[in-house]
Amino acid sequence: MYEKLDRNSLCWCGSGRKYKSCHLAFDEKIIQWQRKGYTVPGRHLIKTEEDIEGIKKSAVINIAVLDEIGDKIHAGMCTQEIDDIVNDVTTKMGGIPADLNYEGYPKSVCTSINDVVCHGIPSREDILKDGDIINVDCSTILNGYFSDSSRMFMIGDVSPEKKRLVEVTKECVQKGLEATKPWTLMGDMGAAVHNHALQNGYTVVREIGGHGCGKEFHEEPFVSYVSRPGTGMLMVPGMVFTIEPMVNMGKQEIFIDDSNGWTVYTDDRKPSAQWEVEVLVTETGYEILSY
Ligand code: MF3
Ligand code: CO
Repeated sequence: MYEKLDRNSLCWCGSGRKYKSCHLAFDEKIIQWQRKGYTVPGRHLIKTEEDIEGIKKSAVINIAVLDEIGDKIHAGMCTQEIDDIVNDVTTKMGGIPADLNYEGYPKSVCTSINDVVCHGIPSREDILKDGDIINVDCSTILNGYFSDSSRMFMIGDVSPEKKRLVEVTKECVQKGLEATKPWTLMGDMGAAVHNHALQNGYTVVREIGGHGCGKEFHEEPFVSYVSRPGTGMLMVPGMVFTIEPMVNMGKQEIFIDDSNGWTVYTDDRKPSAQWEVEVLVTETGYEILSY
């Protein structure tokens, strides 16, 4: 996987510097982990400075869209109106909604209410009502760079049980961020997320998780939040991925709506919550790129 480069040739990262004074030591460190049997990221997963700038510019739009939804969301609004705002704000700022036409997905955003785990499709029929919790999951393409994040919104007077689910799910993301450190394993990060959910009496969805992100919408690795410590891909500076656990109030099991092939529900029809951030692994820890 790690093609040997001559010490004096230009570094693969595009810095214009010689390999020996750029990524040589970095590559050697990765190869050591690989020899010990760990899964390591390929070079295509290490973002350059230029890539990171590109993702950040894309994220400016994604963050602005979610801010705008936060300002406008209210009881009585249908989820199609949310889709319209996402499409308007994204395109006016020069971006493309990444969801639209992605593997045939028909809308510009996912709106997942109460027992919908993810991939709720905006519709004129789905009207927000007092006490609902909703995840709005938004993704943007700008100059070929992808940003991806989601937030929960509470509509009017939400029950203490649902409020706690929303808050604990946000804390789960924070636990994941605190475990995002170079030269540690993704499995440790996922386990930190999982433990916090379990300690609060919740379960975490297993089948759907996070992903590398940036040059494509969904890159390697698949990011699990029910992972075992000591497993998973090595995190190294320059990797970008999402932390986006789906936390269920009841059982972990889910099913997909046959009628549209997208929308995921909890099996027991109890509520589910999700927050998503897109994060960069840095030399010392992490930097949030989109939220
Ligand atoms: N934004 C979702 C994620 O976090 C993906 C949605 S794909 C869609 O990965 F097609 F359903 F929009
Ligand atoms: Co995502």
